[in-house]
Amino acid sequence: MRLWAEIDSSRLAYNLKLLRDTVFPSEIMLVVKANAYGHGLEPIVQIADKLRVEWIGVTSANEAESVFISGYRGKIFCFFEPEDEDEAEYLISKNISFNLFSRKTLETTVKASRRLNKPAHVHVKINTGMNRLGLRPKEFEGYIELIKDKKEILLDGLWTHFATSELPENEFVIEQLKEFNKLARKAKKVFPDLILHAANTGGALYYPEARLDLVRIGIGAYGYFPSFDSPRVIDLQPVLKLKAKITSVNLLTRGEGVSYGLRWKAEKETYVGIVSAGYADGIPYQASGKINVRYKDRIFKQVGSICMDQFAVNFEDMFPEIGDEVEIIYEDQTAEDIAKKSQTITYEILTGIGSRVQRVVV
Ligand SMILES: Cc1ncc(COP(=O)(O)O)c(C=O)c1O
Repeated sequence: MRLWAEIDSSRLAYNLKLLRDTVFPSEIMLVVKANAYGHGLEPIVQIADKLRVEWIGVTSANEAESVFISGYRGKIFCFFEPEDEDEAEYLISKNISFNLFSRKTLETTVKASRRLNKPAHVHVKINTGMNRLGLRPKEFEGYIELIKDKKEILLDGLWTHFATSELPENEFVIEQLKEFNKLARKAKKVFPDLILHAANTGGALYYPEARLDLVRIGIGAYGYFPSFDSPRVIDLQPVLKLKAKITSVNLLTRGEGVSYGLRWKAEKETYVGIVSAGYADGIPYQASGKINVRYKDRIFKQVGSICMDQFAVNFEDMFPEIGDEVEIIYEDQTAEDIAKKSQTITYEILTGIGSRVQRVVV
């Protein structure tokens, strides 16, 4: 194994406990889309199952199936509408609840339900201002009328999604929530047991009034905050470390360069080691020359262009052993630090950790 991500299960448990205590009595939906934010869907779901996490959130029937196959016994919710009748049929057959807001998917869902002779459990999404998915508030009552008497559709929940919840005291979050609550109150007169949910990590942390029945937590569970400026109101711990092996070492003389474009040149005689991780594994090309690695408790600079499968490190006067491991994402260089240095966001660094990276639970 040349390149691997260590997934610290006790840190995931710690973050989830902290988040649960914070949002209690609301329930938690752990969002595991995009390979559990790069952490590996299967191991994360298995840990979540042991921790009795109430809900798991995914974006497709495929991801839902992976959650199911991983042995998860709690409730699963799919953020996207099923793409076709087969997807709808799969979700209904496994009691997986899913998003529903379009007329087209309503039709497909009814057909799939009839095929199975089993009703679908749905949560209708309301678009309160994010303007991605969901019903416009003015369409809401008409849609509820449409589904109200259909025995194929069981309306279990109503939900929405915030566009600006990564910072506290944002007016737009309050407006979105107000609009959502207004419609939810109306709907509850007909469906008194509706589950209401709106908050992501930012919503859950900074807007207690938005916690409602359950919160959909992604980034927070993995130990990060939604943005660089998000206040650190609880002590989250990153769950993932990225490690790789040194595969080669060259003693460069002054003036010799390394990697494509020879963008970095040695100023003096120095050991340059090659590490087996590249941009295809999620180390951004943009981070070239800006990140470091930890090796034997010392910090060494990454130098030259990051390649598809490898990058170079200036080990200076230290001769590193081929086959030794270095740490790339670790306590003092988190995914957030790498995101800052690459002009992107923490989410992109985590979800960019590629399929060649083995996930090892510790
Ligand atoms: C609909 C929805 N809910 C919840 C989340 C979780 O967000 P976060 O990772 O900020 O907690 C996401 C993630 O993008 C999402 O798309």
